[in-house]
Parts: sequence; C-alpha cells; structure tokens
Amino acid sequence: MRERLEKEWKSCFGDTEGVRYFFAPGRVNLIGEHTDYNGGHVFPCALTIGTYAAARLREDETLRFYSVNFPGEGVITCPLRGIVYREEDGWTNYPKGVIAEMEKRGFRAPAGLDIMYFGTIPNGSGLSSSASIEVLTAEILKVFFGFAFDGIEQSLICQAAERGFNGVNCGIMDQFAIAMGRRESAIFLDTETLAYEYVPLRLPGVRIVIMNTNKKRGLGDSAYNERRAECEQALAEIRTVRETPSLGALTEEEFAECSAAIKSPVRLRRARHAITENRRTIRAAEALRGGDLAGFGKLMNESHISLRDDYEVTGPELDALVSAAWKAEGVIGARMTGAGFGGCAVSLVREECTERMMQEVAESYEKAIGYAPTFYLAEVGDGPGEI
Ligand code: GLA
Repeated sequence: MRERLEKEWKSCFGDTEGVRYFFAPGRVNLIGEHTDYNGGHVFPCALTIGTYAAARLREDETLRFYSVNFPGEGVITCPLRGIVYREEDGWTNYPKGVIAEMEKRGFRAPAGLDIMYFGTIPNGSGLSSSASIEVLTAEILKVFFGFAFDGIEQSLICQAAERGFNGVNCGIMDQFAIAMGRRESAIFLDTETLAYEYVPLRLPGVRIVIMNTNKKRGLGDSAYNERRAECEQALAEIRTVRETPSLGALTEEEFAECSAAIKSPVRLRRARHAITENRRTIRAAEALRGGDLAGFGKLMNESHISLRDDYEVTGPELDALVSAAWKAEGVIGARMTGAGFGGCAVSLVREECTERMMQEVAESYEKAIGYAPTFYLAEVGDGPGEI
C-alpha cells in the first residue's frame, strides 16, 4: 500500500519528502441499529478495509485535498482559517468539517496541509466511509500537531463535524467504532454514557460475510433524520406519563406500561424498535461473551425483522439479500447493517459454507432485483494510526 500511495502522491503533489502515511478503518455493526440516538447500545467492529492517507505540512495557511477515488475532482483547495461548508467542495466538506470543529474546541492547526486520501471502502456501502475520512483527518492533525485528545474525544469531534457541518444528525456509533477499533474485537458501547467493553470476536470456523446491495444511499437524503424526529416525538409522548432519560433506558415491560401515551401507530412502531433492539443488543453481547453463536445469530435475524417491519428502513434490496441468506446452509444469522435504505447486510456463516452461500444469495438477489450484489469476507482490525 505504501508504494501505491507514494506513486499517487508523486503524480499529484510531486516529491515525497516529509510525507507521512496514515490509515483509519471502516466499520460494520453486528447488532444495535438505530439505537445510538435513542440512548441504547450498539455492537460494531472496525474493519481492515478503510481509508488511507498521505499528508505533508505546508508553510502557509492553505489546505489542499485530493482523493485517488475521485480523480476527476482534482485538487480542492481551501483556506485554513474561516472554513465554511461549500457544496462545490464535495467530499472535502468531511475533512474540512473536522478541521473546523477541532479549531472550535481549541485544537487550532498552526499550519496548512496537503492531504491525499485513498479509500478501500466501497462508496455508499454503509460501511462508514465518511466517518472513516473524518477520524483519519483528526488522526493526521493529532500526529502532526501533537494534539492531546483521546479516541473518545476524537470520535465526538468527528460526530460534531458530521452533524454541524454536513447536516446529518447521526449518533456516535460510526465515529466511535472507527476511533476505538480493536483487532478481533467487537465494541459493546452504551451510547448514553459512552461506557464500552471490548468483547473478543471468537468465531471458530465462522466468517463474517458482508453483502452489498450495490444500491447507493446517501444519509442526508434518506429518511434518517425523519426517523430520528419520530423517536424524539415518541419519547416526548412517553414522558407525559413516565420519567425516562431516553427510549433506550426502558425495558420492554416498562414500555408496555406506558406505550399507550404514543398517539400514532407509526411512532409506536418506531419506539418499539428502539426499545426491543436495545434489549437484543444487550442479549447479543451476553451471547457472544458466553460463546453462544446460535443465540447471537437468532438475535441478528430478529433485529432485521424489527428494522423491516417496525422501523421500515430496509427496502426490497436489503430484504432480498437477507432473506436469501436466511435460506442458505451454514448461515447463523443475517441482518442489514448501518442506516439502511440500501448499503450492506452482515451475516455470520460457517466457513465451509461461505462459497456456496455467496453463490446462492447472488443468484436469488439478481433474480429479484435485476443486478448483482457484492460480497466481502470481513477481517476485524484496529483503529486509526500512522502506518
Ligand atoms: C448511521 C449513523 C449511525 C447510526 C446508524 C444506524 O450509520 O451514522 O450513527 O445511527 O446509521 O444504526
């Protein structure tokens, strides 16, 4: 990879003196979907696919960005001071947002940088390519300028940048999973308190197979913000009859006692998903700690059903992938992952069955949807760093 980055750098920015190289992972969420803005738990892990960067200090106050993935966009330049969102700056609004947010929090970059990015996460796949770019950018500035923030603060900076600068009212999961990733571990995170635990992903003879619908999705234009608002309204209605800090703080029994306060059937289903999904995630972490993979897989399947019927964020592509996976031999569990409305699904599959499973799922998906899915055998990797 170093060689590839050096070569790309040379053709874009010239000589490589003073250039340093970095990586930040993508993420896949095993279970706990649409719970992170409802005070619930999530259970993601960092991937070995992600975003690479080469970066060098400048002597002036200019930022220059280039992406190997979008060569047609060329080098995009912006001043280091007074950074503002500009639509025509495209993908660079992600790194720009992070640098602006850092400055707001007192991490003021003393000089400009040239940064070249190269992502190995398929665009629009829902494996968090944008959070990966954000966390990577914060890592680069941290290393060059010696900023003293830890991984948790790094994730909060990047989340604030995504929300404030790029207008997606996201939770903390993606940025946290990436900034705090650890090899062969899933991160069991309480999004209300940010208390977290690394749970070893001991999956003897089992592979994590990621299935891409190849249907592109953009968080901003999806119904993401709408779901979030529905949950907030449902919480406000519950609070007219019961004190609770969040939907995630309620057990299923407590919810049954107060759910009549929610005045619309749609919001009732949204809230029910937030609550049952949180409980499933807590149970899934217990199952994994206890080596109960079958129990874990069952919870994954239930999660998909809830996302499909109660939260309504799956759509025909994800449903086709997941239901085909459920039918294939050796599949322990399968569900959509990430925001939904396209993007990827994740499954646990017995190693000896993976080839056949991918073939069967591909055939059935193509028949139903009209184009082919893509598969990745996921490796669970570390958080960001210099390489
Ligand atoms: C996106 C958001 C996350 C989370 C998921 C759904 O990935 O960025 O914060 O809400 O959707 O679980």
